[in-house]
Amino acid sequence: MLGFLVRAMGRAGMVKSSSLVRPVAVTKVPGRYLAHQESLPKLPVPPLQQTCERYLRALEPIVEEEDLQHTRQLLEEFQTGGVGERLQKSLERKARKTDNWLSDWWLQVAYLDYRMPVIVHSSPGVVLPRMEFNDRQGQMRFAAKLISGVLDFKTMIDNETLPVEHLGGQKLCMNQYYRVLSSCRIPGLKSDTVVNYSQDRRAPTHVTVVHNFQFFVLDVYNSDGTPLTVDQIYIQLEKIWNSSLQTNKEPIGILTTQDRNTWGKAYNNLIKDRVNKESVRAIQKSICTVCLDAPMPRASDDMYRSRAAVQMLHGGGSRWNSGNRWFDKTIQFIIGEDGSCGLIYEHAPAEGPPIVKLIDHVVEYMGTSEMVRTPMVPLPMPKKLRFNITPEIKKDIEDAKQSLNILVHDLDVRVIVFPHFGKNVPKSHKMSPDAFIQVALQLAYYRMYKVCCATYESASLRMFRLGRTDTIRSATIDSAAFAKAMDSPTVQNMEKVNLLEKAVKAHRAYTDMAIRGQAIDRHLLGLKLTAIEDLTSLPDIFMDTSYAKAQHYNLSTSQVPAKTDCVMCFGPVVPDGYGVCYNPMDEHINFAVSAFNSCAETDASRLAQSLEQALVDIRDLLDQTPKAKL
Ligand code: COA
Repeated sequence: MLGFLVRAMGRAGMVKSSSLVRPVAVTKVPGRYLAHQESLPKLPVPPLQQTCERYLRALEPIVEEEDLQHTRQLLEEFQTGGVGERLQKSLERKARKTDNWLSDWWLQVAYLDYRMPVIVHSSPGVVLPRMEFNDRQGQMRFAAKLISGVLDFKTMIDNETLPVEHLGGQKLCMNQYYRVLSSCRIPGLKSDTVVNYSQDRRAPTHVTVVHNFQFFVLDVYNSDGTPLTVDQIYIQLEKIWNSSLQTNKEPIGILTTQDRNTWGKAYNNLIKDRVNKESVRAIQKSICTVCLDAPMPRASDDMYRSRAAVQMLHGGGSRWNSGNRWFDKTIQFIIGEDGSCGLIYEHAPAEGPPIVKLIDHVVEYMGTSEMVRTPMVPLPMPKKLRFNITPEIKKDIEDAKQSLNILVHDLDVRVIVFPHFGKNVPKSHKMSPDAFIQVALQLAYYRMYKVCCATYESASLRMFRLGRTDTIRSATIDSAAFAKAMDSPTVQNMEKVNLLEKAVKAHRAYTDMAIRGQAIDRHLLGLKLTAIEDLTSLPDIFMDTSYAKAQHYNLSTSQVPAKTDCVMCFGPVVPDGYGVCYNPMDEHINFAVSAFNSCAETDASRLAQSLEQALVDIRDLLDQTPKAKL
């Protein structure tokens, strides 16, 4: 999804075989799912010349003319000198031999070899509207229903009855749904792995519940395989709560916030002890984690969602809820005593849309399920997971707290609900809402910095078997022309509208090209990784100033639409950049904008305000210009 993924390619010398990775292989899930997967086309390798031409066009708004000239020359040599053609042929061979030439590479270089902490730098959070409970009974009741909703969704996965999704009229790959439950990332010394237990002969039947930094195994199925009722789960949660009233425990989960190499080392140390190893394994194998959080510092209604966003993204630091997590776990639902609610997910196995689909299902389910008190057999006490804390582990925890708190102070997140309109206004002007928002974002950024920047928007490649994402480069020649003209007193409104329409169409055209496997970024990455694997020297096009600029995403963005009135959020991918995620609803838009406090040039609130203003100004421009009404 994010820009860092491509930045990580700079370290592609670390690419390894993915034999350590245990993704859920397509062939492991029989029946309907398999038939669907096999009906999907394979990801194509775009023609070399097309990518070279499109790459040059994408560079135009973001690099100097002199650098562009140089790149033009390098691309010419790359194409005519035989190197490009050789790499292209090698890539095409790989595409013929594999289900998806990109997906294993992508998992490895974009996620498992990436060594920054998963918090802020990789794992997205989701903020749900504040819930109405503000006591522990309310929190437990809510958590019980939520777990029940997750199990209901899991049944659809297990029975392969999950409806196939569509985009642009095409069926989508459903593989990611089979990877998000019962899975976990495992740290290594130089590279991580990801494990999935859902296909095991004895597939997991428990969730991990964490309260006051203490982890519990909550079995959620009866011995006959039926899921516990909401009532039963509620009673089990109460037992967990009552046996974890003290907060004086070591926040072992904080270890998972460290950079991956440090955590990899601490992990090996941690699991030397048999008890610790078993406890860690129980967390890794669980269906998901449910974090029962202590209240966070109070925030005004205005700031509530922004505060909840940091709670989801990192837990607030060592004083608050960061120890109440296992950040390697693929999905962690977070429910605070104060009504805060959302989740964080580890990005390696999936993109945001399947996660948000799961949320939509759970929210709908919770609206219909009622707690009905029925007589029942007493269930055993959920098992508390024990950890033996040696002085070395204690030191690792203290070190992790320090690094975490620095990162926590550095991250600024603003969640805004743009109230003036949603998808309705762009649609009424026959424009793609996503393109409209992206063009507004280009205008907002241009107004602040008077330049355009490399911009990343995730495009789904799920039309293809095992597809993940490619990049929509939202800074186009047309968006730059519009941004420059919009505030110019010498340009007539009619001309501004023409330029706007052109920019929106160009964005939509890029989107169509990307979701059909014809964008440039993953193709260039594939050529680069092929050169590395073939042990040839890296072609000059990858050592070029323009390439470095193109990979430095000052704006890393994504649309993650949901039926639920929520918003996904993530950190910037470069120190001087922004993360922008949005959920366009029919009549309003939820945005989450992030930046680092340590960068003097960026300011999440300012960009959020500039974006609101840009959206309103564009709407007003269309309303005031007669042509737009035709
Ligand atoms: N006139 C009127 N309506 C239009 C229109 C036009 N010119 N163009 C589009 N629309 C409508 C669409 O029909 C759609 O209608 P709906 O609300 O009934 O579904 C709606 O507007 C939205 O379309 P659009 O805004 O163009 O976006 P999209 O839904 O096609 O999504 C992407 C665009 C890029 C977000 C999507 O293709 C994608 O790739 N999503 C994946 C993102 C992802 O993986 N993120 C990862 C996060 S970790």
